[in-house]
Amino acid sequence: MDGSALRTLDWVGGAGGAVEMVDQTALPAAYTLLRIDNVADMVAAIRRLSVRGAPAIGVAGAFGVALAVQAHGTRGPAFDDAVIQLREARPTAVNLARMVDRTAARAAEGLEAVLAEAAAIRDEELAASVAMGSLGADLVLELVARPDVRAMTICNTGGLAAVERGTALAVIQTLHERGRLAEALALETRPLLQGARLTAWELDRMGAPHRLLVDSAGPFMLARGEADVVLTGADRVAANGDTANKIGTFSLALGARHAGVPFIVVAPESTVDAATPDGAGIAIEDRGTDEVVSLAGVATAPDGTAAANPAFDVTPAELITAVVTDQRIVRLDQHQTPA
Ligand code: MRU
Repeated sequence: MDGSALRTLDWVGGAGGAVEMVDQTALPAAYTLLRIDNVADMVAAIRRLSVRGAPAIGVAGAFGVALAVQAHGTRGPAFDDAVIQLREARPTAVNLARMVDRTAARAAEGLEAVLAEAAAIRDEELAASVAMGSLGADLVLELVARPDVRAMTICNTGGLAAVERGTALAVIQTLHERGRLAEALALETRPLLQGARLTAWELDRMGAPHRLLVDSAGPFMLARGEADVVLTGADRVAANGDTANKIGTFSLALGARHAGVPFIVVAPESTVDAATPDGAGIAIEDRGTDEVVSLAGVATAPDGTAAANPAFDVTPAELITAVVTDQRIVRLDQHQTPA
């Protein structure tokens, strides 16, 4: 892999190989690749967000099962424990447990079968990003009566969050490629700054006009008429359309409703969880105190300050105009539901 292709992660070296991934904790200061050759390191990479974003951690988990087979064989307590560690590395994005389970189900057939399943998942996510970009851009252009679109987004939903291109940012990229993007407005996304560090980096690489906002500016900018649409990704879309995504998404949806701006969730079918009826059933990751009371290792609050750190929130279906997947557009504003 090199910087120009921006494939976020992949398996290298065939049987006996390893996972190579962009270390997202190092961006934008450095573009570095990690070689992950064991399950413990993969779990740690997922937890510290070296690899992050729902589709990307699904693919990471799938290749992680191949690492488990390489280390422990195709069954037994050590293999089972490795699979559990992988599927529980982060709780909110349904993609992780789903893709770990899907790949582990092939384990009895051996390493080649597991690698083939993980590669299929990778390729499905790649194709899904292209399809979502196109379907989403069509919908945005239908809803926004302007020759060029000002699109607000939160967190990072680009190639870094998937395999290539991404979800909501794939829509923005497609609008840009069609010559229909006036500007992307990216929220910085405290506490870990995925919007500032990663989305601004990706928008710059694609040559798309953009400005960065502090998170609290989002709803006000919408109220002032400075964006035509909000495009976000999802970590889990419940059967009724309630959507878990990066903390701050719910506030943005409230702001969009107040301003009369369409709020569109873009996520592959692999993120739609028909088994979870509504948002109340979605586990929300709490990432602890440190990320809130410090920034890049520097204290931003007095010693001993207590904090809450939900990494995600749930936007109720009633605030969402549509969910765009790789296969369909679900118009929640017209009382359709994803499942
Ligand atoms: O904590 P993160 O950075 O993994 O959160 C990512 C998000 O919330 C994304 O919006 C979501 O996973 C969709 S990514 C295409």
